[in-house]
Formats: sequence, C-alpha cells, structure tokens
Amino acid sequence: SDIGKGTYPFYMLKEIDEQPAVMRKLSQVYTDDKGHVTVDDAIIEALVASDRIYIIAAGTSYNAGFASKYLLEELTEKPVELGISSEWGYNMPRLSKNPFFIFLSQSGETADSRQVLVKANELGIPCLTVTNVPGSTLSREASFTMLLHAGPEIAVASTKAYTAQIAALAFLGKAVGLKIDNKKAIDFDVVHELSLVAQSIEATLSEKELIENKVAGLLETTRNAFYIGRGQDYYVSMEASLKLKEVSYIQCEGFAAGELKHGTIALIEEGTPVIALIANNAKVAAHTRGNVSEVVARGANVVTIVEQDIANADDDIITNNVHPYLSSISMVIPTQLIAYYASLHRGLDVDKPRNLAKSVTVE
Ligand code: G6P
Repeated sequence: SDIGKGTYPFYMLKEIDEQPAVMRKLSQVYTDDKGHVTVDDAIIEALVASDRIYIIAAGTSYNAGFASKYLLEELTEKPVELGISSEWGYNMPRLSKNPFFIFLSQSGETADSRQVLVKANELGIPCLTVTNVPGSTLSREASFTMLLHAGPEIAVASTKAYTAQIAALAFLGKAVGLKIDNKKAIDFDVVHELSLVAQSIEATLSEKELIENKVAGLLETTRNAFYIGRGQDYYVSMEASLKLKEVSYIQCEGFAAGELKHGTIALIEEGTPVIALIANNAKVAAHTRGNVSEVVARGANVVTIVEQDIANADDDIITNNVHPYLSSISMVIPTQLIAYYASLHRGLDVDKPRNLAKSVTVE
C-alpha cells in the first residue's frame, strides 16, 4: 500500500502522533449530526439482554480490554470478565446464563481469538468484534462489528489501536447506559471528555524531548524494569510493560503497586528502573506514592507519571487531568514514548522487533 512514514523515522512514532486525530475521528463516527451517540441498536439490545460481558483478546488488545473494564461496568451495569484467547480456546470457563462476548482485535485475524469465536457461535452466544479492519475474519464471523477507524497500523508494536479500542468501548458503554437510564451514562459526555483526552495526548506529545531525556538515563543499558500502578493504572502498567518488552527487549513487569511488596520487591536493587503511574484517584494515589517510597528506599531509580491535579514539584512526567473512565488513554501515551525512545537509544529496529508478527494467524 501507499501508506508512507512521511518525515517520520519509524511508523511507531507516526502512529503515536496520530492518536489525537483518532480520538476525534471516533467522536465523529459514533455520533449523529445532532451530537447524539450512535451505536447499532441491535448491539445495544443484545448487550442489554445479557447478564455479563466477556472480553476475549490477545496481546495489546487484551490489555485494552482491562483498560475498558471499569468504564464498561460503570456504564452498562454488567460485570466484565477478561479472557486470554489462547487459553479460552481450550479452557473456556463456566459462563453466566446470558453471556455477551466482545472480541477485541486490531487485525481481526488473530487465530487464537477466532478459535474462541467459533466456539461462542456454536453455543449461540451473541458476539461483537471490535476491530480496525473492516471485512476481517473476526468481523465477518461475529454477529456484530464496531470499527476502530484508527487507520492502518503498520508498526508491529500496537499503539493507536489500543487507545482506539478504549474509546470505541466508551461509546458502546455510553449507548448501553443511555438505553438503561443509567445516571452515570447520562452524565458522561463522551464526546467532550474525549476531546479533553485528545488535548491531553497533544500536551504529552509536545514533551517528547523531556521523555526522551528521562529514558536515556534510565533505560539505555538496564536489563530489567518495572511499571507499577493501582486500579486503572495497574492495567496501563500491563500494557506499558508489554510495549517496552516488545521494542526494547528489556525484561519488564507491570505490577499492581500494592502487590510488589509481597514478593517481587526482592528484585529491586540499586538502580532498578521503576516507573510509577498515578492518575487522579484520591483513593489510591497516596498508596501508590507509599509504594514508590518503598522502592526508593531499596535503591530503585524511579520515574513518576502523574495527573496534573495531584502532581508534586518533583514528579517527572505530568499529564492533563481527564475523566477517570478515560485515564488509561491519557496515561498510556508517555509509556508508548518511553518504549519508543528506549528502542531507539538501544539502536534497535523500532518497527520490526525480533520474533514478533503484526498479526498471529496460527494457534
Ligand atoms: C500479535 C501482535 C500484538 C497484538 C496481538 C493481538 O501478537 O504482535 O501487537 O496485540 O497479536 O492482535 P490483534 O490483531 O488480535 O489485536
């Protein structure tokens, strides 16, 4: 195809930069000319009739499922459970009486996910595929499709598809919530909130140099690293660490900040990089800061990524405040840039990491 890198050295950076535009595009696609949210009514009805949402996915899409769990539970009033495609293909757990399956897949071609979809179809479970590729296998074989409209994603490491998945599911949640008269959904102005997210992303993108400088000292030679966070930030930590592993080959783990002390803190030594994510959630922010102090006391080299309202003078990377349903989108951006610059500074091929394929069509 003709999709070029333009002036960009790598697709990954180009695709990171496209995210504000993708957020705005989704607001156009999933609203009508009066600004009302429009999601296919058949999807809404099938979801409202269900008693539990199951999100099935692999890799970064699996992490996007976690990042969307909170907003979907709040807006739809249904419990949301996550499933790894390659596990559920062989070990489907006991399901609720009226399950609704959501397949998250950038490519729509992941064989592990398709295997679960085939079984779900046999069981008569309503299935929605959320994908970037119209006409893809998972889209064709599912009862329903929602598209990500993120434009082709070429870099092997997924960035804009992750944030687009969360945003698309926010529209789904809003539409379902309106249908059931959920007060939180009525109050959640998804278009406005996503426009603030787009601005937050832009603000972070304008700080590339600051982020690159942090990375140069922290990740140029290290063999391992940790991301920590609580709640939504824990889910972002999972994706942040996957991204870093994929493109920099640094062994990295995303940890629930409070769980680190129950074993893994044994790995913290002088200079171990620990990146802490702290979104504006009063219930947990102080606790995550406590966990930061614990690792600092053991010699960790800490970088904090913090939302503006709760940031201190000595925090490293500050992001704009956004709606808590969408904080994963805004908080993940610095971590995408961290992965990108780590790969660059280690002299690696950012767009084509060893051993990885853009989409895996074998089980
Ligand atoms: C591969 C890619 C990952 C991707 C995963 C799921 O492993 O390298 O970046 O997250 O497949 O792909 P999908 O297209 O289903 O989202």
